[in-house]
Amino acid sequence: MKPISFPTIFITEGKARLNIPDMNSYRVPTEAPVFYNFIMEMNRDIAILVVKVYQDQQGHPLTILLPLAATGVRGIRFQLEITGIQKIIMNDVSPEAYVLMKQNLQLNNLSDRITIHNEDALHFLNSFARRGQRADVIDIDPFGSPSRFLDSALRALKKKSGLICLTATDMAPLCGVKQEACLRKYGGRSLRTEYCHELAVRLCLNTLITTAARYEIAVTPLLSYSIDHYIRIYAHLQSGALKVDALLHQLGYIVHCFQCDYRNATSNLLATHPSCPNCGNPLDYAGPLWLGKLYDPSFCERLLNENNQRDLGTKKRIQKLLQQLLEEDSTIITYHNIHRICQQHKINASPFQEIIQALQKQGFSASRTHFSRVSIRTNASRTQIAQIIQKIQQSD
Ligand SMILES: C[S@@+](CC[C@H](N)C(=O)[O-])C[C@H]1O[C@@H](n2cnc3c(N)ncnc32)[C@H](O)[C@@H]1O
Ligand SMILES: [Zn+2]
Repeated sequence: MKPISFPTIFITEGKARLNIPDMNSYRVPTEAPVFYNFIMEMNRDIAILVVKVYQDQQGHPLTILLPLAATGVRGIRFQLEITGIQKIIMNDVSPEAYVLMKQNLQLNNLSDRITIHNEDALHFLNSFARRGQRADVIDIDPFGSPSRFLDSALRALKKKSGLICLTATDMAPLCGVKQEACLRKYGGRSLRTEYCHELAVRLCLNTLITTAARYEIAVTPLLSYSIDHYIRIYAHLQSGALKVDALLHQLGYIVHCFQCDYRNATSNLLATHPSCPNCGNPLDYAGPLWLGKLYDPSFCERLLNENNQRDLGTKKRIQKLLQQLLEEDSTIITYHNIHRICQQHKINASPFQEIIQALQKQGFSASRTHFSRVSIRTNASRTQIAQIIQKIQQSD
């Protein structure tokens, strides 16, 4: 094993003590010989809450695989911050990462409690794809897209109860900037719209659900969100063709008009008129994508309670995110950028709370959305929202 040949610094994150590359020497974390990103602390904090709550729900100690572990920070924190974990096995293809992981395990006195590997993630995952060897939790945290790891991860998880955790940082394909790359990696079209971050989550969920469907595994989202430069998905596995079929019925498309921002979700593109019902412009479409719920509110409640009992580094931000998710109704597809509506209709923006209350008063569902600070998720149409804002202004 080669000794480390690059400068490192000592940091702490949560309860973990870590040596990481001295990031002052690199422009971006991906340039460092071993990857560590301070911004992803929130991603790891939430992962701790999710695994803790999931372990409580399952009622038994969990085995966890981390095929793309880098410094080992995530696995070390799972072991130190969640009591009763049965087994953690970490892996990274990079020899430098392997050496650093080994050092970090020693630093935290975990060398006999966490096993580490140094091989390709697919090979690593495939070695667990046998009855009796499968894991409870797998966390896929790659550079860019998780797509190429999905088959192996699903096969290495317990089919009736596994938890899959995914990060995707390739926002250009997922948000419709690189259409071909989106088709290649996610098998669907994205569109560069004001709600493209929601499309990103729904496209990635479609890929996960259809990949699992081939093994007759039904994958249901427990929590999915978009924040900073990435999206994150937590979903649990159940086996059975009927359960899979019920999920597949919730896949579909979103048609969009780039002239007036009309949009509509549909499970059948052929049943949709090719022109916008509002302005007659030709419609474009995104999908296939997941049209069902993005998260389970009761699971989010439990995460919120768990967060309140802890003192995580990003506690306040997590609380805000979870509260926002609990206000949002993710069965309503897409959200509207209020600033853009006001520009399009040449009206001044009213306070968001007033618009939300006015929409609710007229019988619509309406809330802010965690996806965008300047948008409202509502089942009112674009035109109805504009009329309501105009009315508020006239009454002021
Ligand atoms: C984004 S980093 C992981 C960050 C880490 N999970 C964390 O929370 O800090 C992605 C890691 O995947 C590793 N990697 C990339 N391709 C791989 C492959 N095919 N097999 C195994 N590891 C791979 C890289 O060396 C890198 O350390
Ligand atoms: Zn239109």
